[in-house]
Amino acid sequence: MQLSSKDLLGLKYLSKEEIQLILDNAVTMKKIILGKSKKAPHLLGKSIVTLFYENSTRTRLSFELAAKYLSANAANISSSSSSVAKGETLIDTGRTIDSMGTDILVMRHNISGAPHLLAKNIKASVVNAGDGINEHPTQALLDMYTILEKRGTVEGQKVAIVGDILHSRVARSNIWGLTKMGAQVSVAGPATMIPKDLDKMGIKVCDTVEDAITDADVVMGLRVQLERQKKSLFPSAREYSKFFGIDEKKLKLSKSDVIILHPGPVNRGLELTSALIDADNSFIDEQVTNGVAIRMAILYLLTRRENE
Ligand code: CP
Repeated sequence: MQLSSKDLLGLKYLSKEEIQLILDNAVTMKKIILGKSKKAPHLLGKSIVTLFYENSTRTRLSFELAAKYLSANAANISSSSSSVAKGETLIDTGRTIDSMGTDILVMRHNISGAPHLLAKNIKASVVNAGDGINEHPTQALLDMYTILEKRGTVEGQKVAIVGDILHSRVARSNIWGLTKMGAQVSVAGPATMIPKDLDKMGIKVCDTVEDAITDADVVMGLRVQLERQKKSLFPSAREYSKFFGIDEKKLKLSKSDVIILHPGPVNRGLELTSALIDADNSFIDEQVTNGVAIRMAILYLLTRRENE
């Protein structure tokens, strides 16, 4: 089996089987990361470029390390240091990178749909590393991988996603992916941060965090994306953390072996208490490790697709 598209733009477009293929390949890739020598030949002779129009620590570095661990040539370009700052268009920038023999272009952009536009206009595979408020597919894949690793399965797991759903590309990708893989998803957040018609995506929209996390197997906090809000959508950080922050008291409503996830970067004390971030059942750091494995799997599968 192989991925059906040259690009990975969102979990909206992947089948359950394709998601499973990526998760299965990530198991092998994690062994490389944890092994003595973090070097395997899977991408020898391939070139991977990351083009980021927004800040990133985890996604950008993990794609770069994923490429290097698999022996690819890896290069970074950021909008501030490129000719984008001189007025070059997105498509012209993409074509320029394409013309240098790039096999995969990993891209983050503040505009929803920007990677889709580039994918139509260049030969290289485009991987969406986060587009506006639309999707962050590799984050949701690493979240599902972490659930699979810690809970043994994604199917049937009750996953509560809490926070700023409206501005969260992580939530959107997770909803697409988790529902395809058979999880039961419930969401909660301030009414001003819940998009209309969300219940049509096959999930439960709850009025309170308490309702969403009751009997949950997985509780996922989301970062409050202050940079994407045109105006403040909640009165104060104190009130947000009181009603929508996850603390020890609220978490007691979930299963006794619940796991805590957060895509990062985390605002300590706002979305989750510091104690919960550092708790034994918090796998936020392991999500980062798993992010490298997932990105290795995606880069490998996209290049293998060409060779078949
Ligand atoms: N989770 C995530 O996308 O983090 P970065 O913004 O640091 O890449």
